[in-house]
Amino acid sequence: MSTLKPRQTVLITGCSSGIGRATALHFQRAGWNVVATMRTPKQETELNRLNNVLLVALDVQDQASVDNALQQALIHFGQIDVLVNNAGYALMGAFENASEEQIQRQFDTNVFGLMRVARAVLPHFRGRNAGLLINVASMAGRLPIPLMSVYNASKWAVQGFSECLTYELAPFNIRVKIVEPGAVNTAFFGRSGDRQNATGVAAYNEFANAQFPVIDKTGPGGSTSDDVAATIYRAATDGSVTLRYAVGVDAKALLSARKILPDRMFLPMIGWSLSPAVFNRLGRLFYKPS
Ligand SMILES: NC(=O)c1ccc[n+]([C@@H]2O[C@H](COP(=O)([O-])OP(=O)(O)OC[C@H]3O[C@@H](n4cnc5c(N)ncnc54)[C@H](OP(=O)(O)O)[C@@H]3O)[C@@H](O)[C@H]2O)c1
Repeated sequence: MSTLKPRQTVLITGCSSGIGRATALHFQRAGWNVVATMRTPKQETELNRLNNVLLVALDVQDQASVDNALQQALIHFGQIDVLVNNAGYALMGAFENASEEQIQRQFDTNVFGLMRVARAVLPHFRGRNAGLLINVASMAGRLPIPLMSVYNASKWAVQGFSECLTYELAPFNIRVKIVEPGAVNTAFFGRSGDRQNATGVAAYNEFANAQFPVIDKTGPGGSTSDDVAATIYRAATDGSVTLRYAVGVDAKALLSARKILPDRMFLPMIGWSLSPAVFNRLGRLFYKPS
């Protein structure tokens, strides 16, 4: 009698770069079938050459492309065992500098896009009475990153959404997990980020000009995409009901601190990540003059 286990299949969004790409490669090397989805598969030169990888177009903002990707995945591999909702980016800058359209796009990608893909896959999971949904949130879903309020809000939404879903999906044997990386060295801080001051409000320039160089240092000093991919793979295969997986020393330390410190101590600590120019001006918010 054969003891070979059938290959499992993972569908991942946002595989054109960074964490999504590394995750696709990690699962493929581990012997999984991989549905590697991205907005522009025509440009792909690596994933399309690998065995057991199906490259499919999927824009999380476009319902038709989500439905089509799922259909192709099921025709090709027959089933999906794990969905990794990874696609996302950050709107950076002062809240007032962002236009309505920028804010809408941030939520339509990071939150509604993630929900769109989950809604497409959940009927399949329910039909099989099995499935695992892994949502890539961020440590920024549980603590503030100055100048990223809308991104923070989107990842906070992903955290709440994921945590709440666990209850209604458990009866169908569908588990939900949240991966929460700290800073990761990817295109997130570069070409993917939206930093356009669309409204032209100049009042925040001093803050932004001082703070962006600090933000830009966090990526190169952070974890690698491979670190996050390894954690996503662990979340997919450890058989546990663990909900959250922090990645990186920064995420682990800060999220632990958040758990044990009151706001009056934790929020000044985040203030230490501000550029000295900004911190010196804002210090009075955190510490009462003696
Ligand atoms: N890097 C970090 O410090 C960090 C930390 C915590 C969490 N995260 C999260 O990790 C995830 C991956 O980011 P990353 O660091 O790997 O950055 P990345 O290299 O910029 O990758 C982002 C991916 O999302 C895709 N994407 C953006 N909008 C999309 C859409 N509408 N439909 C489908 N795909 C879309 C991008 O595709 P295109 O190539 O088409 O733009 C790209 O493949 C994001 O959810 C991010 O919020 C990142």
